[in-house]
Amino acid sequence: MRPTTIAMAALSVLGWRGVEAVKYTPTRPPAVPLAVRSPYLNTWLQCGSDCTLAGDWPRFWTNQIQGWEGLVGVDGEVYAWLGGAPGFKAANQTSLEYTSTKSIFTFDIAGKVTLTVTFFSPVYPDDLGRQSLQFSYIAVKAKSSDGSSHKVQIYMDVSAEFASGDLSQVINWETKTSGNLTYHRFYRANKSQFAESGEIASWGDWYLTTGTDSGLTYHIGQDNEVRANFANKTVLPNTIDSNFRAVNDNWPVFAFSHDVGSVKTDEVERLFTLGLIQDQVINFAGQSGQLAAVPGLWQSFYQDDISAVVAFYNDYGHATSVCQRLDGQIKTDSESTAGQDYSTITTLSVRQTFGALQFAGTGSKPYVFLKEISSNSDIQTVDVIFPALPIFMYLNATLTRYLLDPLFENQESGAYPNKYAEHDLGTFPVAKGYPAGNDEPMPLEECGNMIIMSLAYAQRAGDVDYLKAHFAKLSQWAEFLVEDSLIPANQLSTDDFAGTLANQTNLAIKGIIGLKAMSQIASLTKNEDKWGQTAVDYLAKWKVLAINNDTTTPHTTLSYGDKASHGLLYNIYADKLLSLNFIDQEIYDMQSNFYPTVALEYAVPLDTRHTWTKSDWQLFAAAVASDSTKKMFISKMAAWIGRTSTNRAMTDLYDAGSGAYPEGGPVFVARPVVGGTFALLALPK
Ligand SMILES: *[C@@H]1O[C@H](CO)[C@@H](O)[C@H](O)[C@H]1NC(C)=O
Ligand SMILES: *[C@@H]1O[C@H](CO)[C@@H](O)[C@H](O)[C@H]1NC(C)=O
Ligand SMILES: *[C@@H]1O[C@H](CO)[C@@H](O)[C@H](O)[C@H]1NC(C)=O
Ligand SMILES: *[C@@H]1O[C@H](CO)[C@@H](O)[C@H](O)[C@H]1NC(C)=O
Ligand SMILES: *[C@@H]1O[C@H](CO)[C@@H](O)[C@H](O)[C@H]1NC(C)=O
Ligand SMILES: *[C@@H]1O[C@H](CO)[C@@H](O)[C@H](O)[C@H]1NC(C)=O
Ligand SMILES: *[C@@H]1O[C@H](CO)[C@@H](O)[C@H](O)[C@H]1NC(C)=O
Repeated sequence: MRPTTIAMAALSVLGWRGVEAVKYTPTRPPAVPLAVRSPYLNTWLQCGSDCTLAGDWPRFWTNQIQGWEGLVGVDGEVYAWLGGAPGFKAANQTSLEYTSTKSIFTFDIAGKVTLTVTFFSPVYPDDLGRQSLQFSYIAVKAKSSDGSSHKVQIYMDVSAEFASGDLSQVINWETKTSGNLTYHRFYRANKSQFAESGEIASWGDWYLTTGTDSGLTYHIGQDNEVRANFANKTVLPNTIDSNFRAVNDNWPVFAFSHDVGSVKTDEVERLFTLGLIQDQVINFAGQSGQLAAVPGLWQSFYQDDISAVVAFYNDYGHATSVCQRLDGQIKTDSESTAGQDYSTITTLSVRQTFGALQFAGTGSKPYVFLKEISSNSDIQTVDVIFPALPIFMYLNATLTRYLLDPLFENQESGAYPNKYAEHDLGTFPVAKGYPAGNDEPMPLEECGNMIIMSLAYAQRAGDVDYLKAHFAKLSQWAEFLVEDSLIPANQLSTDDFAGTLANQTNLAIKGIIGLKAMSQIASLTKNEDKWGQTAVDYLAKWKVLAINNDTTTPHTTLSYGDKASHGLLYNIYADKLLSLNFIDQEIYDMQSNFYPTVALEYAVPLDTRHTWTKSDWQLFAAAVASDSTKKMFISKMAAWIGRTSTNRAMTDLYDAGSGAYPEGGPVFVARPVVGGTFALLALPK
């Protein structure tokens, strides 16, 4: 049985939730990452005007409910702190804080107990083994808030919705122990490798794990019965429903409760982990041109499924210290670069970006596959990797290579016929490429992106061999830029929701910078430079074609000659990222002076076709703008995060005026391109 969202909203109007205001640090986000570590472990709390954890269900990024309930017993009374199960008093939530890796909620339970719940999805840019596990931590802490001692039980369950997007699929389950841990394992009876239903993987095993202490009890059964039984008895019966059935057939849930005894002013903590194990993760046509299963990278680092589950759980101390350092580094670097507003933006982007990645392959040949979440689920989309590039350049440039390798391997195998660069490799998790060359064509965009990203990685990692190894393909794409970059044919740019257009100013400059980058690649690899002079010639011509000087605030146009138009010239960012010193300072100055004249409440519109904007491109433009214009972009976007009416995992496409989803446009959710908000931090020092 399921309460509807409408019913929950009505309850909240009736004051069913607490009435006191929640304190947000640094601000109220549109949605809160709860367990976000991969395309399949990607669960969020969607916020309305406020982010209260109890009263509605957590959602997969698609909006599908993922039944996940948290209850707490205090002196025999039971309160809900997580989830939408009906019939429970909601705990009063007092605050929400987010960092790069954690979402921390605190609750005041009847004036007696302070409950702190931390949803912790670690990010390990330098540690492939740990990063490759699709698991998150949930730490629940309780302490007395009135000085008296109180009897406390901590309860959590998850439903089988995590394991199948098709709710009519039969789920199997078991409860077992390993060492000092107890886990519920649940999975589809009929697994289907590399298939999805509603974007949720149709293969793999899910685990909810906790420590086996003397107060631990468990229960698997029908949702309402399991919860009501806990509410009555504040203990679980240690029984397992033996009737394996469909996700939505009397909704089986997998529950644990910890009776922690009497809680005084010393904090008591219980830890849970939630996630999935998949042996094979991607089907990939690489060097051989033939599809072959690629194992989860975790298999090179852990002996088997249970070793991985146990290792992740027992690694909590290490995870906490590594991620505390990472959280601190990102916050401090963001603040010292552009203030608190900038940190508000970057810290919300980290888990979202890494949550679109799947770590695959072996220790000696790792791959990072990326899912173009929500737009069309493509795998390895080049113009999605490109906007996300700044976060990788800032955290660990080698991740860029693991992202580019699958694209090079597929195209160098000869399995892609076009002379320009491939747009993507297929639909996640099947990277079969396009032997017929019928991918979404973005020729200029992707040729420029591949050359720029390859050089960016090689410069930062000092890896000239990488450029040597791929010089032939890079040259082929540069030749395409010679043909098409100065006078771009009618084509899509990365902003494909806006349609095709000829002579796009911003697209042209990407290609021209690509030629300049290729000239540097030629000199680094000691090859003949066939592109440097062309880049210089094209830039001079581009300046004449691209700029409207016939106004008090000169600016580049959206397309050549269209004087009434304008757009974000975000592609000049690559000039600074690569330290090319190619684009004249007067162009940077001109755009810096222009943007404030067309800014709306929450952003500068992407271009004159709509009032829509893109958060990644806002910060690419900001990163190379004057100090005051930089500040304008950043303060508007931070204000947008705190006030937008969008309520799903942060969108990168919104209306610059209203801050809402774009009217008549696509709804983007949880896309990794928000890694582009690290544009300022990725620039060479
Ligand atoms: C929540 O706070 C309100 C107002 O202070 C109070 O009346 C109510 O009892 C509290 N509820 C719980 C569950 O603590
Ligand atoms: C980047 O990550 C790789 C593992 O992929 C690691 O070997 C390397 O040390 C990391 N680089 C830095 C600078 O930490
Ligand atoms: C559980 O066992 C592991 C080693 O197997 C140990 O590292 C950990 O501290 C133990 N945890 C508890 C709560 O006893
Ligand atoms: C399992 O699912 C596949 C499709 O995903 C289907 O073809 C097959 O018949 C199913 N097998 C059983 C035993 O239900
Ligand atoms: C819980 O207690 C209520 C009231 O005593 C009773 O009606 C209900 O059947 C009990 N539910 C369970 C699952 O024990
Ligand atoms: C593109 O710009 C060039 C140079 O101004 C012009 O000759 C050409 O007609 C334009 N193409 C289109 C389709 O407008
Ligand atoms: C506009 O001004 C820029 C910068 O001063 C110059 O390079 C460009 O040639 C001018 N363009 C036109 C069409 O006059």
